[in-house]
Amino acid sequence: MAEPDDFVVTPYEVRGKIDYTRLREQFGTEEVTAQVLARIHHLAGGELHPLLARGIYYSHRDLVALLDGYANGRPFFLYSGRGPSGPLHTSHLVPFDLCVWFQRRLGIPMYIQITDDEKFWAKGGLTREETAQWGLENLYDILALGFDPKRTHVFFDSRSISALYPLAIRVARKITFSNVKAVFGFTPSTNIGLVFYTALQSVPCFWPSWAEGRAVPCLVPCGIDQDPHFRLTRDIAEGLGYPKPALLHSQMVPGLLGEGVMSTTGGRTDDALYLNDPPAVVERKLRAAFTGGRATVEEQRRLGATPEICSIWALWRTRFAESEAKFQEITRTCRSGELLCGDCKGELIERVHKFYEQHAAARDRVKSWAESTIVTSAPKPI
Ligand code: TRP
Repeated sequence: MAEPDDFVVTPYEVRGKIDYTRLREQFGTEEVTAQVLARIHHLAGGELHPLLARGIYYSHRDLVALLDGYANGRPFFLYSGRGPSGPLHTSHLVPFDLCVWFQRRLGIPMYIQITDDEKFWAKGGLTREETAQWGLENLYDILALGFDPKRTHVFFDSRSISALYPLAIRVARKITFSNVKAVFGFTPSTNIGLVFYTALQSVPCFWPSWAEGRAVPCLVPCGIDQDPHFRLTRDIAEGLGYPKPALLHSQMVPGLLGEGVMSTTGGRTDDALYLNDPPAVVERKLRAAFTGGRATVEEQRRLGATPEICSIWALWRTRFAESEAKFQEITRTCRSGELLCGDCKGELIERVHKFYEQHAAARDRVKSWAESTIVTSAPKPI
């Protein structure tokens, strides 16, 4: 059981210094081993996404069975989502970067859920107009990462409810109040929107099976904080006659200020790089970011720095070092003292500016087709 000064990881609260091995044991999930990675590498045609190669995706449920199925001619679909409580920051891209890669390598469908309802229920300070508006803004950012317009489908909760509801009715009957109370820590003052909400997060796992009238396997790449929702989904799947979704869990990216971890719902704005930060703000935040460096240049040259605790290294690791060679070089020269924090930050700032520029152009381009990905009708009335 968690101790008072320990870490807490639920969909609605991430706090403390997370011990990821212990978290995996507490949740009872499986480890992403070298053998699992070798399987993915093989199925993806001899390539491994950096988020997999660098251990950010470190935990799973039933991934091996899903890969076996794929190898035997049973393709799966991808599902992930976003609760639109504000602008995206770079760590919110972790699930979607991996999904784009899987979609490109395997040519499989992607389902994205935008939970404007959930964030309205969970966050006291936001209006309905705001969560809906952020939902659309976030969707543009997500699609701009390179999703295939023909194979990408979006459940924008408030607008897709008639497509989701026939299945949500069935899902909700299987989940009791004592289940959600135990899993999410709800109290008598939790609003009933949130009590119902988890049913809606389950629905996309089953939706293609329902639509196609056959068992279609599902893979959900997500932050490990989302696992509690999918434990419920998996518990009810068989009773509804659908396959249990497989899960692939990532670690949470540490904030720029370095203490503890950043919650998925945001927090202090200097703790993260928002995709709508102007270049000068990006530069200011990165210059002020916490590193694993030493007090003086002399000491750093002599003793080297500590990448594992550095928020700048975390950014290289999760997104900005595209090649393994680049990532290894940064890690090695950081540790040896050859690379100084100021230079490392300067190089990252350049890299981030370049990405923001490309991203802004891609984001403009998706606007013409984003609406067409939103699913608004059910495949059948009942
Ligand atoms: N609940 C998630 C959030 O707050 C949003 C979400 C919906 C999601 N469906 C998902 C996340 C599936 C991961 C996978 O951000």
